[in-house]
Amino acid sequence: MSEGQVKPSNPVVAEAHLVDTFRLEEYQTLYKESITEPDKFWGRLGRELLTWQRDFQTVHAGSFANGDNSWYLEGQLNASYNCVDRHAIKNPDKPAIIYEADEASDGRILTYGELLREVCRTAYVLKQMGVKKGDTVAIYLPMIPEALIAFLACSRIGAVHSVVFAGFSADSLRDRVIDAQSKVVITTDEGKRGGKLIGTKKIVDDALKQCPDITHCLVYKRTGAEIPWTEGRDWWWHEEVEKWPSYIAPEPMNSEDPLFLLYTSGSTGKPKGVMHSTAGYLVGAAATGKYVFDIHDSDKFFCGGDVGWITGHTYVVYAPLLLGVATVVFEGTPAYPDFSRYWDVIAKHEVTQFYVAPTALRLLKRAGDHHVKADMKHLRVLGSVGEPIAAEVWKWYFEIVGKEEAHVIDTYWQTETGCNVITPLAGITPTKPGSASLPFFGIEPAIIDPVSGEEIHGNDVEGVLAFKQPWPSMARTVWGAHKRYMDTYLNVYKGLYFTGDGAGRDHEGYYWIRGRVDDVVNVSGHRLSTAEIEAALIEHHAVAEAAVVGINDELTGQAVNAFVAIKEGNEVTDQLRKDLVLQVRKSIGPFAAPKAIFVVPDLPKTRSGKIMRRILRKILAGEEDQLGDTSTLSDPSVVDKIIETVQASR
Ligand code: WT7
Repeated sequence: MSEGQVKPSNPVVAEAHLVDTFRLEEYQTLYKESITEPDKFWGRLGRELLTWQRDFQTVHAGSFANGDNSWYLEGQLNASYNCVDRHAIKNPDKPAIIYEADEASDGRILTYGELLREVCRTAYVLKQMGVKKGDTVAIYLPMIPEALIAFLACSRIGAVHSVVFAGFSADSLRDRVIDAQSKVVITTDEGKRGGKLIGTKKIVDDALKQCPDITHCLVYKRTGAEIPWTEGRDWWWHEEVEKWPSYIAPEPMNSEDPLFLLYTSGSTGKPKGVMHSTAGYLVGAAATGKYVFDIHDSDKFFCGGDVGWITGHTYVVYAPLLLGVATVVFEGTPAYPDFSRYWDVIAKHEVTQFYVAPTALRLLKRAGDHHVKADMKHLRVLGSVGEPIAAEVWKWYFEIVGKEEAHVIDTYWQTETGCNVITPLAGITPTKPGSASLPFFGIEPAIIDPVSGEEIHGNDVEGVLAFKQPWPSMARTVWGAHKRYMDTYLNVYKGLYFTGDGAGRDHEGYYWIRGRVDDVVNVSGHRLSTAEIEAALIEHHAVAEAAVVGINDELTGQAVNAFVAIKEGNEVTDQLRKDLVLQVRKSIGPFAAPKAIFVVPDLPKTRSGKIMRRILRKILAGEEDQLGDTSTLSDPSVVDKIIETVQASR
């Protein structure tokens, strides 16, 4: 083994699907097949991992160049059948959902049999509300079992779920409801998180004031709070599901029928409704569940991500349920009632795989090792996702949480990729702290020179990351904007899928993700667009111009810092700064709030009016002596004033 590699320890290896003993060659053989004979490889996995109502005939058709990739053609299947029925038939009493509520005492366990009945009743309710195959349904729910039931009820009748993270503001929810043309929205009276109440229904009501096409709002009673009610539009979940039988046949769906939309931020414009299709996405989720996380029949899988993001879609809902194991649905926060909460949950339910973002690990590491006291002997796999994990956090995860027995896997992927794409396989891949290691099956990475657009071959190279071959779970389009899909992902480097991330490949072919090369910032694993935050700031009447940059932050990975130039006649006060933060919370959501706001007389702009964010980043990093050439600025003197403002705030 080469330097810096951590070999997975024996308990993990013994469980792994690919090997008897630790052998990377098994991966290499299968990987090679997946690249040279993708139809054979993915055809076999498709039949092995999913149950089809009608078998497929064509494994793959289409190309990156044409933007028309499709998988498992002529096949028919249903996502909810694959996630629920086939397990409920075999073993109805097996736990499917372990609901770990904000207060530990409020939790409950749902078996596959119970899940099937709940999904069917809810599917009836949606049908009765007029939802038809192909319609989108907006889901604005916290981390409760009903979120999963809602996902599956949609897919059961062929509706397309469009989940909006329940931390988004009313304005953001409104925009997504309108863009997706949803007519039904599902929510709760309130949410409960970290001992605090969140007025979900109130936010939905605010949003729906400007969504005239919404006909029905289905409300799950979580806390029993007094909430506003619109007769004829709002319906209680518990009252509606009572009216219906506990079985409805799953709708046969074509492989390429859309399964869901999930909005994500890009470098420009409004959030994009990334569309995933049914069969390819499900194969990707099940395949990574099996090979990356090494999920076995009796495992208990705990992904701490929210169902409002792709991590929750694929690894709270689809991967564990497709493989028929129990998934932990955790409503709370890692800090409530104290910093032991995750570890208590893991010990209590004998969790075998745990998956979380480095931002949570940084917080817990800082809180102190004494919180990690629980007996977590069943843990075999510790996953990390969403942002680069620093070597010291990786080591803490491995040594303190995993007791050097669980395998730490740093999984790289995106909303658009559907499932892990560069990642170790638990029990198989020797790992290096900070590297996402090697490509998953079917993924053929290329490091591209961003200037020439040419592929850089060989090892020990740096550039931007692209993929050379289509894979089943890749996003198929941006809802209602296929051209935008092409321009963002497939037309940047012709014939390739462009990730938007910088990456290096080391001397052993291991990949190191460097972060976004566009104007996307990653705060606590949440993907934010600087352009969107700027647009929010400009909505405030006092703001003339705004520039937002992401800077490194010890706790959140990156933090949002905003520079605003205000219109003449407005006074710079603390209140104004507070109002501007509020403006962002209102337009996007609390998680996008700038950590610092600098009010400056003017922004550094080129003569053609382009804001030079590079200069702002340098000033924030305290590198004002390395600003480079500022002579192209239309007014170079603004730089000194900005430096003064930043220094005065320190
Ligand atoms: C962006 C995608 C799908 C996971 C949740 C975020 C960054 C993701 C890693 C990792 C370094 C990572 C990339 C990517 N990212 N995983 N293991 N190491 N960076 O999904 O919101 O679609 O964001 O998250 O920059 O492009 P997302």
